[in-house]
Amino acid sequence: RKQQRKKICEMNKIAARYFHKNLYAPEGKKALEYLRGRGIDDRIIKTFGMGFAKDGWDHLMKLLAEKGYTKQDMQAAGLIKMSEGKSYDMFRNRAMIPIINAFGDIIGFGGRVMDDGVPKYLNSPETAAFNKSRNLYNLNLIRRQKNLSHLILVEGYMDVIALFSYGIPECVATLGTALTQDQARMMKRYTDHVYISYDGDAAGQKATLRALGILSQEGIETRVVVIPDGQDPDEYLKKYGRDGYIKLMKTSLPEMDYRFGVTAAKYELSDSHQKEKFAKECANLLKKVESAVTKEKYAKKLSDMTGYSPESILQDAGGLRRETE
Ligand code: GTP
Ligand code: MN
Ligand code: MN
Ligand code: MN
Ligand code: MN
Repeated sequence: RKQQRKKICEMNKIAARYFHKNLYAPEGKKALEYLRGRGIDDRIIKTFGMGFAKDGWDHLMKLLAEKGYTKQDMQAAGLIKMSEGKSYDMFRNRAMIPIINAFGDIIGFGGRVMDDGVPKYLNSPETAAFNKSRNLYNLNLIRRQKNLSHLILVEGYMDVIALFSYGIPECVATLGTALTQDQARMMKRYTDHVYISYDGDAAGQKATLRALGILSQEGIETRVVVIPDGQDPDEYLKKYGRDGYIKLMKTSLPEMDYRFGVTAAKYELSDSHQKEKFAKECANLLKKVESAVTKEKYAKKLSDMTGYSPESILQDAGGLRRETE
């Protein structure tokens, strides 16, 4: 199995080099223009090893065959697909982003269409080398940084790449799947302070609530960077620059403040019945707060928002002690 993993990474390395070279060949002009149009310059292309998979059914297949790999090998690497006896390159006419683990091995790829085709991203399937729930994008670059004071967790490759190019390299992304406990544990090895900076849309908010639970289970202190108008970090950086994003980070919300905000948005607080429901729901959220001081602080805050006494709120929140389940 270790042998198989090694072989897959070898093939991926050949593929990544080939994709990268293609980007600067005449056929790659369109892809290079696509990336440049997104503000990605040659330095960033090189840092992230980006490339281009040419249009066609067997460019990579032929190259790998020349190097002695079998179709079974290629399929095991997720680089070709086989159906009804026919085989063809998995990635065609896409801008390519290699996914590199903490050891520097290329474990898979994300391929982006360069127009509004679907799927927008085609990711390598899980292979012996690529476990999506036990890897994070950008770990290879993070690993070199000592004593990270925090990490920023984003949704997409392009968000990581944008943050990096604006001089904010301490970020990671999940690999097209929801955040897992394993990934939270991996992040904990680098820091215990994480900013969640997901897309500012409904899906991002839903994923943020989920990530808050997973990260806090690992004892990670979280803050939420709320991006306005449905934008993502990449788009926000392009509009407001590094300073704008740093400002946004400074106004990021601690977990409980964010949860209260999301909850408040569901209710009409001028209606006394809805306000009561809001207060109860928030008191319930407070149950898992460990520190009595912090609990008191939030009970006061809720009291200000609703007019109920901090004492009643604390009582509904299970008193000053953390609820043990
Ligand atoms: P850009 O449009 O290139 O800026 O990408 P994005 O990162 O903003 O995309 P989006 O917010 O839609 O999605 C976030 C992440 O989800 C992406 O980086 C991918 O990892 C994943 N993703 C998005 N679209 C698809 C898709 O069509 N298929 C798969 N498998 N994953 C996707
Ligand atoms: Mn700390
Ligand atoms: Mn999105
Ligand atoms: Mn996005
Ligand atoms: Mn985006």
